[in-house]
Amino acid sequence: MAIDRVDAYLQSHRGEFEEQLKAFLRIPSVSAQPAHDADTRKAAEFVRDDFRAIGLEHVELIETAGHPLVYAEGPQVPGRPTVLIYGHYDVQPPEPLEPWTTDDPFEPVVRDGNIIARGATDDKGQMFTHLKAAEGWLKAGGGLPVNVKFLIEGEEEVGGANLAAYVAANADRLACDYAVISDTSQFAPGIPAITYGLKGMAYFELTVHGAKADLHSGMFGGTVANPLNALAEILASLKGPDGRVRIDGFYDSVRPLESWERAEFAKLPFSDADFLAQLGAPSLEGEAGYSTLERRWARPTCDVHGLFGGYAGPGPKTVLPRMAGAKLSFRLVPDQAPQAVAAQFRAHVARVTPPGVTVEVIEHHGAPAVLIGVDSPGVRAASRAIEAGFGTPPVFMREGGSIPVVALLKEHLGIDTLLLGWGQNDDNLHGPDEKFSLADYHRGIKASAHLLAELAV
Ligand code: BES
Ligand code: MN
Ligand code: MN
Repeated sequence: MAIDRVDAYLQSHRGEFEEQLKAFLRIPSVSAQPAHDADTRKAAEFVRDDFRAIGLEHVELIETAGHPLVYAEGPQVPGRPTVLIYGHYDVQPPEPLEPWTTDDPFEPVVRDGNIIARGATDDKGQMFTHLKAAEGWLKAGGGLPVNVKFLIEGEEEVGGANLAAYVAANADRLACDYAVISDTSQFAPGIPAITYGLKGMAYFELTVHGAKADLHSGMFGGTVANPLNALAEILASLKGPDGRVRIDGFYDSVRPLESWERAEFAKLPFSDADFLAQLGAPSLEGEAGYSTLERRWARPTCDVHGLFGGYAGPGPKTVLPRMAGAKLSFRLVPDQAPQAVAAQFRAHVARVTPPGVTVEVIEHHGAPAVLIGVDSPGVRAASRAIEAGFGTPPVFMREGGSIPVVALLKEHLGIDTLLLGWGQNDDNLHGPDEKFSLADYHRGIKASAHLLAELAV
């Protein structure tokens, strides 16, 4: 059978697949940093060249106002469904470098069966599994069993505005029966998962302005407002001691968890104590009345990501800063609309800003949450494929992270995405020593190869 020849090819090429992933990881495609623009393009070219090498057609770098998209198609298989596979070749900045235990985030190291490098799991390692699965079919299986379209972007980590425009304008080219993304995690080691929900996001930057220049806090303190103090007041107003967001209307459109979901979440092998130990925090905190998994996966949150203003260098400096700022975001759940949350947030900030300062709200990226039905032919095919690759069927879970393209594919192509994550919760994506299990890499390749066969029927 063709699938057996594909499996044999994948098995005998494991070493090569690992070397290719290392070469991909060596390219510092940090989309957020202009100093890495040339590297980011190199990663796009790496993907393009591998598409060509494995035998895909219509291979193309698609220029955008930012980093290019990479597109390719498998040879036409008339009468078979079409599968669109999305991934991203850009990575988060590796900084701060100090906590990394390897010499260089872009020089992959294999330790305890994991490959450690920026992008190992998010998303280079995960997305590359689909290229290697396609390679298996094209080199050993007599051709792909379905029509395949690949769309790989380079701006996922910076909000992906150019991808949104491309998808909106190219719905015909991207038309498909199924969409597949591997950019999430398994439930735990040995417990693969299909993710059926992602949070959305509304990201803001707040700047608070006071006097025209920094002032001596003794000479002028007590006479004009301090932007940092004002910022602290505004931020403190966002959440109550019960962990709930205190913005008018914020919960109005939040879809409550369904009782079957609460029951299913409660059945998953999850321990608050183990989770707390993994995170190394003093205690678990969050919205009252919800379990840890419910809060992580299905309740909206509000978090500050960075603060600036005044003096934060060594030793004291008695400055009354002229401005202060914060970066913060809300993780959204169905059916909260990012635009509605932005309006509510602006109204709240206007209401709570103390006198003596002016405030500016800058809107960064927004994306709605997604929730995908768990009972569909695609999900059943994906379950069988995961069982083939991982030796055990998947559990169903939601995630707190966001993948903006999923909502775009729903809006413009009318398609639900199959979120088949090969990562682990402790992979440290966006953090130091990001890793990806090489065993999961190969299992993911096998699952992807089986998925193409399972979706063919
Ligand atoms: N792969 C992540 C999303 C993710 C992480 C999903 C963990 C599930 C579990 C993706 O690359 C990411 O980092 N997304 C950003 C959103 C984006 C708009 C910057 C995020 O979730 O912060
Ligand atoms: Mn990702
Ligand atoms: Mn990411």
